[in-house]
Amino acid sequence: MAKMWAGRTSGVTNKLADDFNSSISFDSRMFSQDIEGSMAHAAMLGATGIIEQNEAKKIIDALGDISEEIRSGKLAISNDAEDIHMFIEEVLTERIGDVGKKLHTARSRNDQVALDFRLYLRDETDILTEKLKGLIGIITEKAEEYKTAVMPGYTHLQRAQPITFAHHLLAYSMMLLRDLERLSDCKKRINISPIGSCALAGTTYKTDRRFEAEKLGFSDICQNSIDGVSDRDFAVEFLNDLALIMMHLSRFSEEIILWSSWEFKFVELSDSFTTGSSIMPQKKNPDMAELVRGKTGRVYGDLMALLTTLKGLPLAYNKDMQEDKECVFDALDTVKMCLDVFSGMLSEITANTENMKNAAKTGFINATDLADYVVGKGLPFRSAYKISGEIVAYCIKNGFVLENLPLETYKKYGDFFDDDVFSAIDLENCVKRRISEGGTGINSVENQIKWVKEKLGL
Ligand code: ARG
Repeated sequence: MAKMWAGRTSGVTNKLADDFNSSISFDSRMFSQDIEGSMAHAAMLGATGIIEQNEAKKIIDALGDISEEIRSGKLAISNDAEDIHMFIEEVLTERIGDVGKKLHTARSRNDQVALDFRLYLRDETDILTEKLKGLIGIITEKAEEYKTAVMPGYTHLQRAQPITFAHHLLAYSMMLLRDLERLSDCKKRINISPIGSCALAGTTYKTDRRFEAEKLGFSDICQNSIDGVSDRDFAVEFLNDLALIMMHLSRFSEEIILWSSWEFKFVELSDSFTTGSSIMPQKKNPDMAELVRGKTGRVYGDLMALLTTLKGLPLAYNKDMQEDKECVFDALDTVKMCLDVFSGMLSEITANTENMKNAAKTGFINATDLADYVVGKGLPFRSAYKISGEIVAYCIKNGFVLENLPLETYKKYGDFFDDDVFSAIDLENCVKRRISEGGTGINSVENQIKWVKEKLGL
C-alpha cells in the first residue's frame, strides 16, 4: 500500500526499507501524548478559523475515542504504520474521512514528534520525582533508626574517623535530593512547546501557538522554529540527570555489597532481596545491588549514544533524530526499575550495629581525637599530630589500641597526659564532640534529618 506521503514518489517502499525506517515499535508508547497534542492542535485550528469549529469538534471527539480504545485494548496499535503519528492519523482518517485529513494543517511530524517527546518526558519526570522522593524517605527513616550506631568512616577505604551509620546514610539523601532538584530544573526546559514550528520555518497560516501551549500546560513556546524542531538538548539533559542518579545508586550499591560481605558484615539484606547460589549452599548474594551497579554502565551508554547521535547534525530535522527515543526510554525504564528495587531492598535492610562498633574499635580511628586532646593541652596541631602518630606506631608495634594503652606510656610522650585522655578517645565521645554543622554529632545528624524532611515536604 502507498504511504500517506505518496505524491512526490509512488510511496511504495521496499519491505526492508520500511522496517528499517519504522519507529512504531518504540514510539507507540507516546500514543496518549500524541493524541493529547493533536487534540490541542485541532482546537487551535478551530479557534483560529483555519478549520470549521464543528470540524475541530469532530476530530477531537474521534481522537478521544481512539485514545480510549487504545487504552482499553479494543484498538491495537499496528506495527505496519511508520510511526505513532502516522498510525493515529490513519485511524482518524479511516473513521471520519476528509475531515481527519485536515488535522495535519499547519504542523509537521517534525514539530509533532518534538512535542510528543517533551510531553512524555514531562510526565515521566513527575513519576521519577515521586520514586526518588520515596527512596530518600526510606534512607532518611533508616538514618533515624540508626542515629547513634557508631561505625568507622573511611577514606581510601581505610578506617578514618568514627561516624554514625545515620550520618553516612544521610550523605546519600543529600545526593539524591540534588538529583531531584536537577530533574525539576530540567523539567523547566522540557516544558516549552515546539508545536507550530512546523517543518522548520513556521507557517503561512494564522496559527496561535500560545493557545496550543497553554492548552497543553506548557510554560512558554520555543522562540525559534528551527530550534523548536532541532532541539534535543532537553533529552540529553534528562539522560544526564538519569546517569547521575545511577552513579549515586551505584556507589551506594557498592557499599551495600561490601557491607554485606563476611569481611564487613555491617548489614544484613533480607531474604526477599537476595539470591542463593546454584552450587554453594552458604551463599546469600546481593544481586539486586550488583545489578543496579551493573546497569549504571548501560544508562551512561544511553547518554553517550544520544550525544553522539546529535553531534554534527545539520539543522533542522534529520532522520538520525529518530534514534533519540530508544536510548531515553531504555534509560528511563532502567532507572525506574532500579529505584523501585533499591527502595525495596533498602527498606528491609538491617544494620549489625555490634559489628560496626567493633570495626570502629580497631584501626585507630580516634587518633585525630588524640591529636585534638594534645592541642587542648596547649601544643600546636602539627606537633600534636606527630606525637599521636608516634603513639599509634608504638601501639601497633606492641599490640595495643589507644583505649588500653597505660597512662604511664602516654606520659612518656608528654607529661600533660592525664586520665582524661581516655574519655577524649572514647568512640562515642568522639562522635558526640563532632558538633560542627553537617558533622556526625547527634544534633547535627538530627538537623540533617529535619532538613531532608522539610525538602521532601514531610
Ligand atoms: N518517527 C520520526 C521520529 O521519531 C517522526 C518524525 C519524522 N519526520 C520526518 N520528516 N520524517 O523522529
